[in-house]
Amino acid sequence: MVADSFADVMSHEPPAQESGLQLLGQLMRGDAQPTPPVTQAADPALAPSAANPEATVGPLSIGGAHNDAEIWSAIREGRAAIDTQVRGPATATLIQDAGMPWLTFRHGAMLQWGGWLLLGTLAALALFFLIRGRIRIEGHATGRLIERFAFIERFGHWLTAGSFILLAITGLLVLFGRVALIPLFGHQVYSPIAIASKWVHNNVSWAFMLGLVMIFVMWVAQNIPNMTDLRWLAKGGGLFSKGTHVHAWKFNAGQKMIFWSVIILGASISVSGLSLMFPFDFHLFSHTFGFINGILGTSLPETMAPQHEMQLAQTWHAIVAFVYIAIIFCHIYIGTIGMQGAFDAMGSGDVEVQWAREHHDLWYEEVTGRSAHEHIPPPQGQATTRHS
Ligand code: HEM
Repeated sequence: MVADSFADVMSHEPPAQESGLQLLGQLMRGDAQPTPPVTQAADPALAPSAANPEATVGPLSIGGAHNDAEIWSAIREGRAAIDTQVRGPATATLIQDAGMPWLTFRHGAMLQWGGWLLLGTLAALALFFLIRGRIRIEGHATGRLIERFAFIERFGHWLTAGSFILLAITGLLVLFGRVALIPLFGHQVYSPIAIASKWVHNNVSWAFMLGLVMIFVMWVAQNIPNMTDLRWLAKGGGLFSKGTHVHAWKFNAGQKMIFWSVIILGASISVSGLSLMFPFDFHLFSHTFGFINGILGTSLPETMAPQHEMQLAQTWHAIVAFVYIAIIFCHIYIGTIGMQGAFDAMGSGDVEVQWAREHHDLWYEEVTGRSAHEHIPPPQGQATTRHS
């Protein structure tokens, strides 16, 4: 019988007994999948040759098979001489063992873990907001502004941020589509959503990568860790208590962690995304596993079927995406409702001088040449003076 839908395929599968971690382990190892597809018999007994004419009655030989089980074992274990008329990098793999652990993990544990991570992060931020409230400018407003980010910096930020938000939404739509959206809205409604999401996701990824390179080049020098960061971390950045202000340059330790997360996760998600966009062109995981084996002495598979590469790339891409989105939730929180005056830095580019003196005193002193503690008289009237 030919299975014509995903539900048909799954209905023939016994329910998965393994936990998410076990499935992930099987997927990493590519369990019971010893060799990549072969086009020549690895086992000479199965290959017809002048010296071994009996082999012509072996599985897949011109004499036919002894029995079906023998054929399928040889195919599965990479011992059979397979050749196909269809040419392509993945066409000679007829059975691939890591496929089911991957599918079961992708539709089960991955969505559960990822979903809980995102909901848990939102809940933690809501709780933090209830306990701590909005971090306000504590001194009196000076009525003066200071430039925090130039236009090109804000452009790079919003290029990265805007494209990231589109990628996150469309990625989640594709990831949760089959288990959450099709049951709710049906195939007819979901189909155009999936097609549009895939198109947006693939094309917007270029803008994200460009933005990533821009912010890396513009901000890397100011994000090198230093001793001030350790002191900032030791005091929790003053985030948990009112009236505590910890010294900071242009970026404090918390922001540096955001910066490096954005860059490292961004690079990793870009590379795995490219390998998904150009299937079978990259051998990302066999090379990475070889590198890890060389350093740690582990025995991760270094030869793998092309499909196995793609399954690992998809799994890695999605896991990194969940962690990345959770981190960005925290960033968006602090840049909007979490801290008074922060959004202006990326909105207009100018912040209130008092905000700069409280949150980035060392940077303020460096840029203006003035003490962050000098008395500035309260503003007369409404006018604000720009200080750059
Ligand atoms: C609605 C979404 C977002 C808002 C409101 C927002 C807001 C901000 C603000 C206000 C700053 C400046 C903080 C300061 O002056 O000290 C900032 C910096 C930054 N943003 Fe965003 N952002 C958003 C999304 C994103 C996204 C999606 C990314 C990356 C994927 C990102 C990456 C960064 C980085 C690397 C910095 C510099 C480090 C830092 O200040 O944490 N932002 N953002």
